[in-house]
Order: sequence, then C-alpha cells, then structure tokens
Amino acid sequence: MNQQIPLKEKSIVFIGFMGVGKTTIGKLVAKKLYRDFIDIDEEIEKEFQMPVSQIFNEIGESAFRQKEKDIIINMCRKRLQVISVGGGAFLQEEVQKECLSSCIVFFLDLSWESWKERISMIIDSRPVLQGKTIEEIEELFYKRQKIYSNHHSKVHTDHQEIEEIADYIVESLKLAWELYG
Ligand code: S3P
Repeated sequence: MNQQIPLKEKSIVFIGFMGVGKTTIGKLVAKKLYRDFIDIDEEIEKEFQMPVSQIFNEIGESAFRQKEKDIIINMCRKRLQVISVGGGAFLQEEVQKECLSSCIVFFLDLSWESWKERISMIIDSRPVLQGKTIEEIEELFYKRQKIYSNHHSKVHTDHQEIEEIADYIVESLKLAWELYG
C-alpha cells in the first residue's frame, strides 16, 4: 500500500534513545530540506493537553503508547514530513512496520559513555528513567539498542556538532535520492 510513495517524498523518521537529540537534529534537517517537522511527544501532549510525565502519572503508560502508535501511523502516511518519535515508540511492532515501510528511518546512535553525561538534563521530563538506578538505566539503554537496529541508516553522533550531523544526513539523503530516486 505504501510502496507508491516515491523515495524523494517519503517522510523521514528519527529514532534512538531518550535525549540523543532526535528533536534538535530533526528540526534542523527539516529546515535544511524545507519540510515540516513533527515531534510525536508534542502531538501527544497536545491531544491530552498535559506534559508527558503527567500523562504517564495520571492516565497511564498504556494510553500514552496507544496514542503514540495512532499518531505515528497517521503521520508516517503523510509525505514530506520530518518526524521525531519517542525513544519507546519502536517497542511497538506496528510502529516499526509502518515507519520502515512508509518512511526513511534514521537511528541516531550515541554511546552510553556520552549519553551518561546528559542524564541530569533529561531525567525530570522522562518518566521512564525516574526511580531507576544508573545500572538499570544502562540495562534499558542496551536493551533498546536492539530494537533500534531496525532502521535504514545509522548515524553516530558522539563528539559531533548538531550542524555537522544534520548536514551529513541531508547529504546522505540527497545521494540516496540521486542513486535510487
Ligand atoms: C520515552 C521517550 C520519550 C517519551 C516518553 C517515553 C521512552 O521521548 O516518548 O517519555 O519510553 O523511551 P524522547 O525519546 O523524545 O525522550
């Protein structure tokens, strides 16, 4: 059904662990490609009219995941979007399938060592990390890496400037469009 979307018009999806920069990099890539940017967490927050942490606490994770799945599937079927999906979205097989069949999926890969340095900046807004020891978070980090191995392209982001990463992604897309578009 989705095969009819020409490569050049497929939406671009960013996946990866919480706090690796999916939204920041996604926004920059969207700007460079003159496309709209969609942050799925933001869309979910708009629907529930409350922040993600509050949704988890008051309505529950399963309602969050259901909404996450519905919004992603809907967005993926649109053309020419740049979409950042939450770090847990790929836990749902239907989400993985839709993203991989309708869109071009980039996995932003940051090492555990580099990620650890960001923890204090993100923990307050990430309910999944709260109440966990650093060892438990590390375990989750590596467990999640396995689900992110389902992607079209992997980008290593350690010790790289945001601008450099976005340029690399845009260049690799242009090459793919030229070769296979
Ligand atoms: C989650 C990641 C978050 C957000 C929610 C759950 C997860 O998104 O969707 O807190 O399970 O990994 P980011 O990856 O954008 O932080």
